Amino acid sequence: MRIFLLGFMGSGKSFSGKRLAEKFGMSFIDLDDYIEEQEGRTIREIFEQEGEPYFRKVEKECLHEMGEKNMTIISTGGGTPCFFDNMEWMNENGITVFLDTSVEILTNRLLDEMQKRPLLKGFSREGLKIFIKKKLEERNPFYHQTQILYHQKEEGQDVADELRKYFFRIM
Ligand code: S3P
Repeated sequence: MRIFLLGFMGSGKSFSGKRLAEKFGMSFIDLDDYIEEQEGRTIREIFEQEGEPYFRKVEKECLHEMGEKNMTIISTGGGTPCFFDNMEWMNENGITVFLDTSVEILTNRLLDEMQKRPLLKGFSREGLKIFIKKKLEERNPFYHQTQILYHQKEEGQDVADELRKYFFRIM
């Protein structure tokens, strides 16, 4: 079994993915961390030194390497499903879950974490909110191709536990 967690930056893919993997006794891979290991530099450095098209190419290659991993939960980057045929590939090679998170929650979380995210450069709170809204409009058609849609309504929800219960019900 292979589960891909999808969602916007700040939707908690890595946090919940790690916890879900522990509950299921599965391995966990964060695709961004995997890319950084392969490239020997941070995502921010890759964006700055090579530009986004290069990053997206490496991201696709690393994603395809996930096809060799079994019993693994993979948290993808916020943009992963929106480039090449990545979305289709993930649907064919695993179970895809979209962590649908409100603009309000995303804004609050991302305000504290702008430094390490190359796409979020020095936004004010209002600017960040507008950016998130616009990006979500572009990306939702991809995110909504996932097999499982999970609505994160409020902060403090135990996403991993709710997903665990959901998977037990369907399997
Ligand atoms: C990106 C999200 C990031 C990372 C890169 C680009 C995006 O991953 O892949 O900075 O396009 O939304 P997270 O969603 O894990 O922060």
